[in-house]
Amino acid sequence: MASVTIPLFSFLLFIAAVACVSFCDGNSNVVCIESEREALLKLKNDLIDPSNRLSSWVEGGDCCKWVGVACHNLTAHVHQLHLAAPFPPTDDYFAPVAEWEAYEQSTLGGTINPSLLQLKHLTSLDLRSNNFSSIQIPDFFGLLGSLTYLNLSQAQFKGTIPHNIGNLSKLQYLDLGGISFWRRKSGRDQWDMEAKSLEWVSGLSSLQYLDLGGVDLNKATDWLQVTFNLPSLLELHLSDCNLKGPTQYYLVNMSFLEVVDLSYNFLNSSIPNSLYSLKHLKSLDLSYNEFHGRLPTSLEHLCNLKEMDLSYNQIDQNISEILQSLSNCSLDCLESLNMEYNHLSGHLTDQLGQFKSLVHLSLALNRISGPIPLSIGELSSLKFFDVSRNQLNGTFPPSLGQLANLETLSIEQNLLEGVVSETYFSNLTKLTQLMASGNTLRFQPNSSWVPSFQCEIIELGQWHLGPKFPGWLKVQRNLSFLDISHAGISDVVLAWFWNLSSKFEYVDLSSNDMIGVISYMNVRTVVDLSSNRFTGPLPRVLPTLEYLILSNNSFSGSLVEFVCNSSESRNMRFLDISTNVLFGEIPDCWNQWQELMILNLGNNNLTGEIPSSLAYTNLVELNLQNNSMFGELPSTLRNCSRLVILDLSENNFNGSVPAWMGHKLSNLVVLRLRSNNFDGHVPHKICALQSLQNLDLAHNNISGAIPKCFSNFSAMTIKYKTSNYLDREGFGFYGKLVYLSALLVLKGREDEYSSTLRLVTSLDLSANSLIGEIPKELGALTGLRSLNLSWNLLTGNISDKIGNMELVESLDLSVNLLHGGIPTSFSNLNFLNHFNVSYNNLTGQIPTSTQLQSFDNFSYMPNHLCGPPVSKTCITKGVPTDGGDSEESNGRSKVNGFYVSIVVGFVMGFYGVVAPLFFIRSWRHAYYQKLDYIGRKLYVFWATMGR
Ligand SMILES: *[C@@H]1O[C@H](CO)[C@@H](O)[C@H](O)[C@H]1NC(C)=O
Ligand SMILES: *[C@@H]1O[C@H](CO)[C@@H](O)[C@H](O)[C@H]1NC(C)=O
Ligand SMILES: *[C@@H]1O[C@H](CO)[C@@H](O)[C@H](O)[C@H]1NC(C)=O
Ligand SMILES: *[C@@H]1O[C@H](CO)[C@@H](O)[C@H](O)[C@H]1NC(C)=O
Ligand SMILES: *[C@@H]1O[C@H](CO)[C@@H](O)[C@H](O)[C@H]1NC(C)=O
Repeated sequence: MASVTIPLFSFLLFIAAVACVSFCDGNSNVVCIESEREALLKLKNDLIDPSNRLSSWVEGGDCCKWVGVACHNLTAHVHQLHLAAPFPPTDDYFAPVAEWEAYEQSTLGGTINPSLLQLKHLTSLDLRSNNFSSIQIPDFFGLLGSLTYLNLSQAQFKGTIPHNIGNLSKLQYLDLGGISFWRRKSGRDQWDMEAKSLEWVSGLSSLQYLDLGGVDLNKATDWLQVTFNLPSLLELHLSDCNLKGPTQYYLVNMSFLEVVDLSYNFLNSSIPNSLYSLKHLKSLDLSYNEFHGRLPTSLEHLCNLKEMDLSYNQIDQNISEILQSLSNCSLDCLESLNMEYNHLSGHLTDQLGQFKSLVHLSLALNRISGPIPLSIGELSSLKFFDVSRNQLNGTFPPSLGQLANLETLSIEQNLLEGVVSETYFSNLTKLTQLMASGNTLRFQPNSSWVPSFQCEIIELGQWHLGPKFPGWLKVQRNLSFLDISHAGISDVVLAWFWNLSSKFEYVDLSSNDMIGVISYMNVRTVVDLSSNRFTGPLPRVLPTLEYLILSNNSFSGSLVEFVCNSSESRNMRFLDISTNVLFGEIPDCWNQWQELMILNLGNNNLTGEIPSSLAYTNLVELNLQNNSMFGELPSTLRNCSRLVILDLSENNFNGSVPAWMGHKLSNLVVLRLRSNNFDGHVPHKICALQSLQNLDLAHNNISGAIPKCFSNFSAMTIKYKTSNYLDREGFGFYGKLVYLSALLVLKGREDEYSSTLRLVTSLDLSANSLIGEIPKELGALTGLRSLNLSWNLLTGNISDKIGNMELVESLDLSVNLLHGGIPTSFSNLNFLNHFNVSYNNLTGQIPTSTQLQSFDNFSYMPNHLCGPPVSKTCITKGVPTDGGDSEESNGRSKVNGFYVSIVVGFVMGFYGVVAPLFFIRSWRHAYYQKLDYIGRKLYVFWATMGR
């Protein structure tokens, strides 16, 4: 993100173009030439113009006065056409639909009439940001021989770039790029435009500015040779062109290139030494590639370098060496250095203080260690300083307090410790972003301290700020993000806090010891108050709020007011009020909660039936676990077809398990009906649940046989899952990672599984009245990790097919009427660490394996089994056998260690896949840059973990 300087040349042209849109229309002294007017009318005729932007273009009018048309002030020839649409919403992911609609209304589309060629004196043509998505760039553009300026950026043309553009020998400025941003963000891996060769570009002998960003140049292997040899070229932008490396570098000595942007490609060599023979280079952007190794020594000879962005590569070097080579001659001119997310190591040395012009410095997401040098205080121009997510230790350097121009200070997730004094901040009057969570710093300013800054972002999570609530926040009227979680605050949160800022988007006070009653929260998007001691009724919130986490508090009373007291529709997507003391019924007025995806009301004292209006929501997770609810499951629940997790366990629900779940709730991954009063048979139709990984029907009154068709639970048959619904459905927001989570009972213990949930597979039918044999078909569930059929009335032999469940870690068949032997196939169950077949009528020898002998007697008694570990020896043909072997328990723990590391690998992968979804929909423009910045950092943090 080169936020400091816009390359001068493009900036001037841009200003000229903008100025022209506002002032060039309607030259007063000249009247337009009739043939040109006719040509323009033909042009208009073929254009689609939904908002009637060209309404001034009418028959008989003076075309020199038409919007977007500029005539020469002496000859009256039309020489400029500026038909650019307004910029599209920058915040493309989450811009409100209305903003997009407004933008789309303002674009011109359709086709371009060749009558344009009548405008023989046209020097400047600007169609930027329109929607020509149905056509290619017309061939005849190559005949507009007078053109010096051609801007078709973000105009959505499709197909191949016509080669005869190369005939425009007077062209100085050519911009065909720009939609790459949309392409990247939408996650598409298709490029709309391509060029198979760039040979045509060599005809553009006057060209000073070239932007082909977002054009697929994968086949144009001559790109480097052609562009770097253009004699006049000053700026080259080939961002997101699907350039693959390594590439051969043909560099001439004579290049005057000042700006080179090759970001967002797949160049994967080391950075070539010859690149730096570009003596005039001012700005180099190679970010988001796969450059690796060390920086070339020629770096020392780039004496005009103002900005260098090498972020998001794999450069592996000591930061002090890099500073050393940069200090050779660019010491005085370097304004911006971004090496975020590489493999930099080493310490920051005092040399840093010599880069007096430095405005923007980002070294985040590397492995830099040691202290922040005191010389940092000498960077008097510095506005942006980001060293977050490194391994910096030592104290918060007091000299940071001298950086009077500093706007962004980002040091979060390092190892800084010690005390921070309020006097350090006295000169930081321009500070707007203070991001420092994840350090063990102590900050307890004098109670009368009034900060000299007005911050928009304050993140001090894990700092020691308590025990008093930080009163100095009282004057931070511009705050939009606040994180003071895990900060040791045990104090009352007073009403002033919630009215502090009209811009509050995000407030995280979680994991403190805060108390008090909250009546109203003026926060637009995210509130996390979890794990505190807040009391009283649920607070009123803004209808825009999307994430509300109140879990682990003592909020009490009824849900009626909170849920029903609004005729407006709610934006709430994530609502977690679990583990509080709510009571009464869940009210039946969810009609306005259409965005709601996660509803967790577990561990409260709620009663009544499941309200039918929940069908209006968009639920992915419904958790009502451990309440006192009752009744049959309402058939309206079948409309919640996106449900992935349904947990109704530990209530008093009754009736039979509904068969419609099988086809209506086809996305279910977790279905928990445990500890209720369900009766009847297990409906065969639920075998249609292809995604189901965890089925828990334990502790009910369910009778009949175990359906053979359970073998159809295909998600339980896959041994190593690579992705599933949980990957696609990410829930998260700035600074927070929210998983779908579920409490599951595995190995006889209830635990919460969230980030690992996708790896867990379990089937628990224990404590029911199931009869018949254990279907051998269950052996097909080779991905199952936990199987519990205990406390039923199951009879017959244990099929040796059960031994096919190689991944099973927990297997409980105890307290049934099983007979026969333990199948020898059980010796294949290498991951087993919880095993119980006690209280059956089993006979014969316990098979020998690394695992089966490691459980104690209680897993086997009372049966008629023999051989280790039970004391009874087996008599085979009169010869007692003895399989005991003391090494085996060691073998077991090794196996388990191996397994743990597999799981960790999976979990890490999961972060990477979900991460792109971790952005909030409703960020507004004003916040965009910051948010993109933060969001991207988080994204990369997660992605890093995925490597
Ligand atoms: C015509 O435009 C040129 C620049 O394009 C300007 O220098 C000149 O003063 C203008 N002449 C009149 C009569 O406006
Ligand atoms: C910082 O970490 C290094 C090891 O990486 C250690 O040698 C040094 O003592 C630490 N400094 C402080 C102040 O903790
Ligand atoms: C603030 O600026 C003044 C004047 O330049 C300087 O004397 C003082 O040391 C600075 N304070 C800090 C904390 O750096
Ligand atoms: C929950 O409700 C039951 C019965 O209504 C009551 O006995 C119990 O005290 C309640 N628990 C809490 C924590 O309010
Ligand atoms: C246990 O099995 C034996 C034969 O294997 C049988 O004689 C006995 O009746 C069975 N006991 C029960 C309680 O089923």
